[in-house]
Amino acid sequence: MPDTPAPTPAWLNDAWSKTVKKTAYSVRRARELDEIPYTTKDGGWHSLGPSWWTNGFWPALMWQMAIGTGDALYREEAERGERLLDRALERFEDLHHDLGFQFKISSAVNYALTKNPKSLRRATLAANLLAGRFNPNGFIRAWNGERIGWSIIDSMMNLPMLYWASRESSDPRFRLIAERHADHTARHFIRPDASCHHIVIFDPVSDAVLDTPRGQGYAPGTSWTRGQAWALYGFTLSHLWTGKPEYLDVARRVADRFLERITPDWIPNIDFEQPDQPYGKDNAAGAIAACGLLELAALIPDRTDAYRDGALNMLRAMADECADWDEADPGILKQCTGSYTEKDSWHIKMVYGDYFFVEALLKLKGSSVNLWLI
Ligand code: GLY
Repeated sequence: MPDTPAPTPAWLNDAWSKTVKKTAYSVRRARELDEIPYTTKDGGWHSLGPSWWTNGFWPALMWQMAIGTGDALYREEAERGERLLDRALERFEDLHHDLGFQFKISSAVNYALTKNPKSLRRATLAANLLAGRFNPNGFIRAWNGERIGWSIIDSMMNLPMLYWASRESSDPRFRLIAERHADHTARHFIRPDASCHHIVIFDPVSDAVLDTPRGQGYAPGTSWTRGQAWALYGFTLSHLWTGKPEYLDVARRVADRFLERITPDWIPNIDFEQPDQPYGKDNAAGAIAACGLLELAALIPDRTDAYRDGALNMLRAMADECADWDEADPGILKQCTGSYTEKDSWHIKMVYGDYFFVEALLKLKGSSVNLWLI
C-alpha cells in the first residue's frame, strides 16, 4: 500500500503565509540599498560590501520564494542580486573558499532555471576560481593572505559549485577536486565521536596537521554548532552528487550527534560544549541542519522519523519563538550568531538564516527543487 503523506501541520501553513508576507516586505526594504543585504541595522537592511561571503544567499532566497509563490517580484530581485554580485567577480582577489555560497545558488541556479548565458559565464568563472584554490594534498584552501594551509568545514557546502561545473562542462576535474576535498575533510575533521573541527591548519607542502584552532566556536576541541550543520548538510550533498556511501555515513553520524546534543528547547546553542551561561543561540545552525536532516530522512529509512521530527521541532521553535513577523524591520529569523567570541555578532538576523529557514519550509511543503543540486 502506498504511504499516505503526513498532513501538513497547521503551524507550517501559518509560518509559510507569514513568510510570504514578510519576505515581500524585506524585498521592498532591500530596494532601498544598492547592495546585497546581510543583516539588519537601525530598522533597515545592512550590507557588508560586494564580496561578503553570504551575498549569494539573497538571490538564492529570492529563487526559493519565486519557486514557492510563482511571483515575478522574486525572480526580478534574484536577478538584481546576481547583477550586484558582478562587483565581487570584478574584485576577484577578495574572493575565497565561499564561491559556492556566492555563485552556485545564484548564477548556476539562474542558468538552470532560465538558461541565461550570462549566468553560465558567471558560475563557470566562479567554479574555476574555486578549483584554483585546490592544494594537491587534497584540500581547498580557506581564506587568503598568510593562511596558506588552512582548510575549514564550511567548504563542504561549497563543493556543489564544483560538482555542477563537471556536470555542465563534462570535465571531471572539478568533481575530482570536490571528492578529494570531501575525502580529506572526512579524514582530518571528523572526530571519533562524530563532532568536527571548524579549522584544520595543514603544512601546505607535507600535509602534516599543524593545529586545530577554535575558529567560530567556544574553544579548541569543542563543536561549533554551525560547523556541525555545515558538515551534516555538506556531506549529504556530496553523497547526493556522487552516490558515494562513505559521505552518507559521515552525514548520518554527524546528524545523530547533532540530535543527541541539541538542547530541549530545540534552538541550537552556538557551540555544543559552551557553558550554560551566557545564553548563546544560533538559529542559522538549526536552519541549515534542518535542511540536511530533511534530505537525510529520505535517504536513510531507519532514521526517517527521527530526522524529520528533529527538523520539524527545530523549525517550529524558530517559527513560534524566534521569528520576526512584523513589518517594521526586514528579515525573519532572529537569534543567529556569527561567532562565539564576537559578542557583537550574537543574536542578530543573517540573510542565510532566512535562506535556510525558507529552504526547509519549502521542503516540508513538498518542493523537490534543491538549489544545491540543480
Ligand atoms: N564562516 C562561515 C560561517 O560563519 O558559517
